[in-house]
Amino acid sequence: MSRDEESNSREEKKNHREDQQSNDSEGLELKRIVFIGRTFEEYMKMFNLTVKELTGKSILDCPGGACSFSSQARKWSADPMAVDMAYKYEIDELEIKGFQDIEHTMKQMEPVQGIYVWDQFGSIQGLKEERTRAVTDCIADMRMFPERYVASMLPELPFSDEQFDLTLSAHFLFTYADRLDVDFHVSTVMELLRVTKREVRIFPTVDMSGERYKHMDGLKFILEERGCIVSEEPTSYEFQRNAHTMLQIVKPNRTR
Ligand SMILES: C[S@@+](CC[C@H](N)C(=O)[O-])C[C@H]1O[C@@H](n2cnc3c(N)ncnc32)[C@H](O)[C@@H]1O
Repeated sequence: MSRDEESNSREEKKNHREDQQSNDSEGLELKRIVFIGRTFEEYMKMFNLTVKELTGKSILDCPGGACSFSSQARKWSADPMAVDMAYKYEIDELEIKGFQDIEHTMKQMEPVQGIYVWDQFGSIQGLKEERTRAVTDCIADMRMFPERYVASMLPELPFSDEQFDLTLSAHFLFTYADRLDVDFHVSTVMELLRVTKREVRIFPTVDMSGERYKHMDGLKFILEERGCIVSEEPTSYEFQRNAHTMLQIVKPNRTR
């Protein structure tokens, strides 16, 4: 393969990724957002969570996309809240967009199946069923608890200091390192820590090409200087190849 062909093929793979999004935050239009999300069960694995840990906790999912984490966490007596720039749209519009995006994404994934690990879903059909379950539960939960789905544009969040016990952030930071610069990453992580009492977990720690986030050591240094305990923790979840680690950030305990 010539260098040009190799680079075209890399571009093609990038453009067919499941989480391919526009980052055009100005003039945001619904058609530029991919409204897709993971299930509660996927979140539990990617964040090494047990249902016991959820009980009684206020948990922020940021950005929540079309995830079913909140809808199911509520059943385990957690108090979840989801935030995403997409939530400024009507629920009916998001529902239509969510199902369209699943159809479109599954077609796009067909030629690049080899860059994923299929142990969990088995096939594109299996993946489609899970993504459909996620958006269906998410939309039903939005209709029941619309005030728990808050529209906001990161790196700003409309919440008070330490409002949540735990904050989870999946498939956004590090994933879009090709378009969100290091300042955006640092500001967003600081904002997530501001609204969280104790702990922030971010999954995965790699970018879209499966490489560890290239500013990870610098980010860890900044966080450790502020007294946080930061670790890269292996998880039992891997769909994008090499995306099997989360970043766990524990804030300093001020009463110690
Ligand atoms: C790939 S989805 C991830 C959703 C979910 N966390 C998951 O793991 O499936 C990325 C989400 O980030 C949202 N998003 C992108 N840029 C954002 C920003 N600056 N502020 C808030 N949300 C943003 C998009 O609307 C989209 O729903």
